[in-house]
Amino acid sequence: MHTKVVKIDSADIDNKSMTEAAELIRAGELVAFPTETVYGLGADALNPEASRRIYAAKGRPSDNPLIVHIAKFQDLERIAEEVPRQAKLLAEAFWPGPLTVIVRKNDRVPRETTGGMETVAVRMPNHPVALGLIEASGCLIAAPSANTSGRPSPTEAAHVAADMDGRIPMILDGGAVGIGIESTIIDLTEEIPMILRPGYITAEMLSGVLGGEVRLDPGIIAADSKTKPKAPGMKYRHYAPRAELTLVEGAQEDVVAEINRRAAAARLAGQKAGVIATEETKGKYRADYVVSIGARDDEDAIARHLYRILREFDDINADVIYSESFAASGVGQAIMNRLLKAAGHRVLTV
Ligand code: TXA
Ligand code: MG
Repeated sequence: MHTKVVKIDSADIDNKSMTEAAELIRAGELVAFPTETVYGLGADALNPEASRRIYAAKGRPSDNPLIVHIAKFQDLERIAEEVPRQAKLLAEAFWPGPLTVIVRKNDRVPRETTGGMETVAVRMPNHPVALGLIEASGCLIAAPSANTSGRPSPTEAAHVAADMDGRIPMILDGGAVGIGIESTIIDLTEEIPMILRPGYITAEMLSGVLGGEVRLDPGIIAADSKTKPKAPGMKYRHYAPRAELTLVEGAQEDVVAEINRRAAAARLAGQKAGVIATEETKGKYRADYVVSIGARDDEDAIARHLYRILREFDDINADVIYSESFAASGVGQAIMNRLLKAAGHRVLTV
């Protein structure tokens, strides 16, 4: 299959490309498109055959449910068995935006889309191309991140092309995304709302709006395999570069010294070592490939750069990667969650 990559200007959307993309969606085909978080691989959410195509293109396990993207709140009412009060509050505060809510589904949503589950994940993305595609197609759009299963999520159209070329008919290229990590997922079918995946919308922001307690799924913090995360996608090794990634935590000087020692040892062993540094430390490393992920106090920049950097290490065929670690509060919690998963929870404390 030939994959057509079409540049699309968010500020001045070309109707012809949008119409073509919308027709593909209506016909049950796949179209990759930008959202504010990461690129999505979209298909008609209410068409089981279209959902099956998503799993096939990504090589995704079929028990891992998809997020349904909507452009207006009433569409949540169309597919939910009931819309909890909390969903209304959260939608008012954060939609369109990087928040996914989980509610009980009704019969309109095929099990193919929800990986066999009786609940459905829904979000309204904050991106004119994503919203435009949903509206032009007249469909609700199921869209996982547009990467091959297990690889880092795509934050640029070129990342999508690297994984999906020849597998899907069309990629809408709206440039680099703004946020860079996937949406926060909150499960509203639990007695106490539970975060299944941390993201840009933090626990503090959520409990502020809900006016009460919000829990974090214990399964996403634990390093052991006994505590299973509730979001099936969070149990797989994920977001991962091909090289072995290790996080190093401790006082800054100790971290730099340890990483330099390990990078030197890797070189002696004939391995190519990469380092994920920060603006503050990038000049202090001696390794084959040192990249700064951003300034320590600029969490937005760190989130935006993370997946691109992990892919760059693949491009240069790094064998081992050492990364500094980050504060686990605010957006830092989402950053550390992705880094820990990419590292298979390999952490070195110095
Ligand atoms: O920012 C995002 O959310 C991006 C963009 C494209 O919107 N999408 C995304 O989708 O990250 P995906 O498929 O890569 O991740 C969806 C996650 C998976 O971990 C999946 O297991 C979980 O959401 N999930 C989906 N439906 C669920 C459900 N009903 N119950 C529990 N977890 C669910
Ligand atoms: Mg994903």
